[in-house]
Amino acid sequence: MEIAYFNGKFIPKEEVKISPDDRGFLFGDGIYEVVRWYEGFFYDMNSHVTRLKRSLRELRINWDDTDKFPTIASELLKLNKLETQPAMVYLQITRGAACRTHSFPSPQVSPTSYAYAWGFVPDRKSEENGTKVMMKDDIRWSRCDIKSVALLANTISYQEARENGLNECIFVRNGLITEGSHSNIFFVIDGTLFTHPESNFVLSGITRKNILRIAQDSGIKIREEAVQENRIRFIQEAFITNTSSEITPVIELGGNSLGNGLPGPVTRLIREKFEAELKAIKG
Ligand code: PDD
Repeated sequence: MEIAYFNGKFIPKEEVKISPDDRGFLFGDGIYEVVRWYEGFFYDMNSHVTRLKRSLRELRINWDDTDKFPTIASELLKLNKLETQPAMVYLQITRGAACRTHSFPSPQVSPTSYAYAWGFVPDRKSEENGTKVMMKDDIRWSRCDIKSVALLANTISYQEARENGLNECIFVRNGLITEGSHSNIFFVIDGTLFTHPESNFVLSGITRKNILRIAQDSGIKIREEAVQENRIRFIQEAFITNTSSEITPVIELGGNSLGNGLPGPVTRLIREKFEAELKAIKG
């Protein structure tokens, strides 16, 4: 039986009951986090907790248990017997249930908190051989820095990618490449690593931050600067990053083949360093 966390309790998932008046359901008024378990540790849990607090603060949702997230996540793994395999934990907090009106409930209501865990099989084929991605206009709102559950633009764009046999949709805003529907993107141009700077137009990915640190430590030149869509022909390598897939090389971007259609040397080096870091943490 699958056990979930719901409003402070660990209960069978099928017993979770969320009000139809929940603002997460009515307005997408909530935030989420996703962490990855590496058979012994959560990778950079501290940064996930920090981002969780920031998302809540930006939306003015008061959930008192943010510091309990690591304990909740560990408990879910234990209760679902997932400790000895790769796993993911999802946490969502909404503003709570209240009579539908656009303004925040007054008086305030308790937020709704929900988390669950699942076993996970990494997509080694894409991670090793690379993947193909599409590009399209960034139709999202301009607060992409908030990890909001309101992800309609992301989901329909990703669906379009999947229906075209592609593995991610990369967004372009005013001619600049921002990020993917559920990943950040990096480019290698003449040996320099580029990624969109932190801003309201991208999510500050935890993997992004750690990859920048690893690249810096490896002596790779970094520019946190958006790449223009019309400079695709100058890109030698690209890769996308997120918590579940870590670093996935991109071998085709918007119909343009990159490098030789194979993961490039900078991407491979960064992947090796990341793997080495995971091994070192595991001890
Ligand atoms: N998505 N950008 C967007 C829009 C994302 O949704 C994500 C992660 C990232 C990468 O962030 P991180 O490295 O912290 O996972 C960037 C998660 C995995 C999801 O929605 O399931």
